[in-house]
Amino acid sequence: MADNKNLQSVLTETRVFPPQPGFIEKARLNSDRLAALHAAAAADHVGFWADLAKKELGWQTPFTTALDDSQAPNYAWFTDGKLNASANCLDRHLDARGDKIAIRFEGEPGDLKNYTYRELHAEVCRTANALKSFGVGKGDRVVIYMPMVPEAVIAMQACARIGAIHSIVFGGFSSSSLKDRIEGAGAKLLITADGGHRAGHIVELKKAADEALAQGCDTIEKVLVLKRTGHDVGFDATRDVWWHEAVAAQPARCEPEWVESEHPLFLLYTSGSTGKPKGIQHSTGGYLLGATMSCQWVFDLRDDDVFWCTADVGWITGHSYVAYGPLANGATILMYEGAPTVPDAGRFWKICQEHGVTIFYTAPTAIRALMKLGDDWPKQYDLSKLRLLGSVGEPINPEAWMWFHTVIGKEKLPIVDTWWQTETGAIMIAPIPGAVPAKPGSCTKPLPGIAVEVVDEAGEILTSPDAGGYLVVTKPWPSMLRTVWGDNERYIKTYWGQFNNKYYVAGDSTHRDADGYYWILGRVDDVLNVSGHRLGTMEIESALVSHPQVAEAAVVGRPHEVKGESVFAFVICRGDRPIGAAAEKLTKELREHVGREIGALAKPDEIRFADNLPKTRSGKIMRRLLRSIAKGEEITQDISTLENPGIVAQLAGKE
Ligand code: WTA
Repeated sequence: MADNKNLQSVLTETRVFPPQPGFIEKARLNSDRLAALHAAAAADHVGFWADLAKKELGWQTPFTTALDDSQAPNYAWFTDGKLNASANCLDRHLDARGDKIAIRFEGEPGDLKNYTYRELHAEVCRTANALKSFGVGKGDRVVIYMPMVPEAVIAMQACARIGAIHSIVFGGFSSSSLKDRIEGAGAKLLITADGGHRAGHIVELKKAADEALAQGCDTIEKVLVLKRTGHDVGFDATRDVWWHEAVAAQPARCEPEWVESEHPLFLLYTSGSTGKPKGIQHSTGGYLLGATMSCQWVFDLRDDDVFWCTADVGWITGHSYVAYGPLANGATILMYEGAPTVPDAGRFWKICQEHGVTIFYTAPTAIRALMKLGDDWPKQYDLSKLRLLGSVGEPINPEAWMWFHTVIGKEKLPIVDTWWQTETGAIMIAPIPGAVPAKPGSCTKPLPGIAVEVVDEAGEILTSPDAGGYLVVTKPWPSMLRTVWGDNERYIKTYWGQFNNKYYVAGDSTHRDADGYYWILGRVDDVLNVSGHRLGTMEIESALVSHPQVAEAAVVGRPHEVKGESVFAFVICRGDRPIGAAAEKLTKELREHVGREIGALAKPDEIRFADNLPKTRSGKIMRRLLRSIAKGEEITQDISTLENPGIVAQLAGKE
């Protein structure tokens, strides 16, 4: 089930890094306080979360029902309570922290902009009023396709303020992916920008948006366009509205729409093993509680922190740890628009120095890329304000962990390796920095109130001190996904079906060691993790076969030093198998084609043409074999059950 190399490295990793006394003294949670939280959750799981919800969130109408499990596995939390996510993130802080900086922004070209809580509140209200003036209201869907600028967070908060449901599409997705997501959500409004800055180029967001709308998207009534790059873009005056014209004139007050706790706060499309990406639906109250508590527990977030989560708001990490969690806690966040290596490989460290970043949360792929560029870059900058480091999105290999620890953390800072998913809404397994010793490559133990187990193929919970199997969650938790937008059957089948609706099945395989530490080994389904981005093999395969020359395609992941995994595609053409220059030309064309269909992030790194795929007699593609071939491994598997064993040599590039 697991990748052997991964398994080997985790089974042989024995280093342990306990929290440092200086950190423990000031930490929100030390081991005693953490033990008390675990005990409270163990004694009364639902009551534990209900108490936190009452204490940590602002409610307009308090709830009396903590958990409604009558429709399980469609769970509902805090059902009769009413609140507003934007009021929790902004209004709550105005008295005590009105002049505190909420967002420090740096654009890739170097432009700076700060928003205090008061300013952010005013801008969110103006934007919310603009949305209302377009006829957008409670329950309407708004698709956001923006660069990583403060207005992206403002747009999210403005939707939340009026009870509209946002669905962000990452700016790296193509017009065709954007169209699918707009249509999936049935969105009324699209919020975009002329473009964004990335790696010295302009990302043509408005152009892609225009292309998407030209292909369909009939539900879209208006397009709100932020001027970011200032370059020329198409503008359809019957439909498009400039942000600065629509928003500036609006009043800076907007009463929050008080919504039921279960009211959807947002949808976020993510890849699964089958079919098209699914719209993961999150609630307002439960989601916000998960985002809020995990910031306090895992990041030890305090009032004087400058929290930098490098994720784009197009991913769940950017939702929970840029837009909602830190703001709900009244923290200062840093947002950076661009690439880590522009104008040079010191950019991230320069930002840390200049903005006094204290908490730095990023992905293993970024750590590995920066590590490759050498220690001289971080050494040029003063990183002394940093007090905590974090990692998310994929397993972090011990080597990258150690580099992060020694070169960036100067062997002093805690590293929190956080396991979670789009579906879980918030961090589930991670070390509490003042209480739990870290082991490089392990996300350590579940957070209080999170019930995680390892089960075998039959769904039996494994209790042995060294357990390997499927990672499942055995009790509902507030920030869990509520359903798949418009397809509840798919929600039940995908996440609960495997073991008779008893557990939430994460889709990851894991190993739990004798100390109860979890080591995530990777996905068990056909989902790839490329640079921390989730991609379904099926999505890439359907993009490939939509090209007129392609008859069949199979996509697998191949371990990659920096990206974690790279996309490897086996392609069967209509007509003859291309070779030489023809193969090169078609490879280039297919890469571009996938870029257009999904987005540049899904382009195959390698394409191999063959006459056929390895199939069993029942017609099933042997993916395990393809994975071995992609890795360049010697084929030791039994291929006698194949319909066409002769194809293996060709697939391996030997013919
Ligand atoms: C993987 C990102 C190992 C895992 C928040 C999961 C991880 C998928 C870790 C979810 C980690 C995330 N260690 N693997 N710390 N964090 N993953 O939905 O396979 O983009 O199922 O959410 O990323 O990816 P998603």
